[in-house]
Amino acid sequence: MKIIVVGGGGREHAIIKKLKENTSIEKIYALPGNGGIAADAECVNIGATDIDAIVEFAYENKIDYAVVAPDDPLVLGCVDALEEHGIPCFGPRSEAAIIEGSKVFSKNLMKKYGIPTAAYEVFDDADKALEYIKTAPLPTVIKADGLALGKGVIIATTREEAEDAIISIMKDKKFGKSGNSIVVEEFLEGPEVSVLSFTDGKVVVPMISSMDHKRAGDNDTGLNTGGMGTVAPNPYYTDAVAKECMEKIFLPTINAMNAEGRTFKGCLYFGLMITKDGPKVIEYNCRFGDPETQVVLPLLKSDLFTIMQAVTNGTLADTPVEFYDQSAACVIMASQGYPVSYEKGYEITIPDEFADCVFVAGAVEKDGKLLTSGGRVLGVTAIADTLKEAIDSSYKMVEQIKFDNAFYRRDIGQRALKAKK
Ligand code: AMP
Ligand code: GLY
Repeated sequence: MKIIVVGGGGREHAIIKKLKENTSIEKIYALPGNGGIAADAECVNIGATDIDAIVEFAYENKIDYAVVAPDDPLVLGCVDALEEHGIPCFGPRSEAAIIEGSKVFSKNLMKKYGIPTAAYEVFDDADKALEYIKTAPLPTVIKADGLALGKGVIIATTREEAEDAIISIMKDKKFGKSGNSIVVEEFLEGPEVSVLSFTDGKVVVPMISSMDHKRAGDNDTGLNTGGMGTVAPNPYYTDAVAKECMEKIFLPTINAMNAEGRTFKGCLYFGLMITKDGPKVIEYNCRFGDPETQVVLPLLKSDLFTIMQAVTNGTLADTPVEFYDQSAACVIMASQGYPVSYEKGYEITIPDEFADCVFVAGAVEKDGKLLTSGGRVLGVTAIADTLKEAIDSSYKMVEQIKFDNAFYRRDIGQRALKAKK
C-alpha cells in the first residue's frame, strides 16, 4: 500500500508515526510534510491546499489511500476531488466539513437538533451587530463564521472590545470572507474537554479524552495560540459526563448530519465545556486536533490504519478501537514571540533516543541539519502509568532538546493534576 498524508504539522507527524506501525503500508508521502516528518515519510513539496496538485500526484503515483488532516483542504473539497479519481480517503467531504468551516452552519445545526451549546445570534450586517452588543450581556463571545487560523474567536469583556471585534471582522475584513457573517454567543464557564472521535456516519467511537492549553503563558495567561501542550485523558471527562455526551451530543450530531444529507466520515472533534448545566459544545472541528493528536494517538492500542479503512468502508462497528490504560503529556516547544512574531532558522538538536517521542511542527532540513521554521516548532510526548510521571518525563526530554529562542509553558498538565486530587 502506498498512502499520502496531506498536511505538515505536529499532528501529521503523529498520524504518520502511528500509521507506520501497519506493515501493509510500504510507503508514506507527506504533502508537504516538514523537516522532521522527513525522517518518517517522503516529503513532497505540494501545499496542503493545492488540491489539483494533490490529486495529480496521487493519481500519477497510484496512491492507494489518502489521509487529509488539516481543516482548509477538507473544507475546500480535497476528499471530494480525490474520491472522484477513485482514491479512498480518510476525512469528510466538503459538504460535511462545513461543520467546522461555518460556525453559522454548526450553531444552526445544534439549535435545530437540540444539541446543547451556548445561546447565540447570527449577523451578516455589521451595524445590526453593533446595535445588538450595546445591550448584550458581558462578557460576550464573537466568532467569525469561517476559518480564521484559530484566531476568529474574541471574548470581549467590555463593549469597546466587542465593538472593535465586530468592526475588525466585518468591516475591515481581518479574516477576509470568513467575516461576512458572525456569531455572537453567550459566554460559558467551566473546564474544557477535547474529544476526538472516529465516525463512519453510522456509529461514533470517541477516542480517549484530552485537555489542550491554548494560552501562550503559564497559568493560562497571554495570547491564544494553536495549543501549547496537551494531556490525556482529561480528568473532567468522567464516565458520567461521557455517557451524557454520547446521548446528548455525539449521537445526535452524527444523526443530524445524516438528516441534513451531509454524512460525516472521518475524525469529528468535539470541543466541549463542562458547565454547571452539563456538557455543551463550544466548537466542532472536522479533523484531528493539534496538539491533541500528539497525546491521543500514542495511547491508541489498536491499529490506526485498520480503523481509518473501517471508517472509509462503513464498517467501524465491527472494528476494535482500544486505548492503553495510561496517561500522556505533550509539551510544545515554540519560538520566542509566538504567536505574534518570531525568528526562524535556528538549529535544533534532539537526542537520538527521543525520536519516537518528538513530533515536529515547524522545522526545515538544510544540509543535514534541522532548523526552526515556525512558531510551534515541535511537541514532546511522554506516556506513563500516571499523569504526573508522563508530565515529568516529557519535561525531562524538553530540557535536553535545544534551539535558540526556545520557549515553552512550564505548567502543562498542572490543572489536570489538581482536578484529579
Ligand atoms: P475556538 O477558536 O472555537 O477553539 O475557540 C477558542 C476558545 O475560546 C475556546 O477554546 C474557548 O476557550 C473559548 N470560547 C469559545 N466559545 C466560548 C464561549 N461561548 N464561552 C466561553 N469561552 C468560549
Ligand atoms: N487544539 C485545537 C485545535 O486543533 O483546533
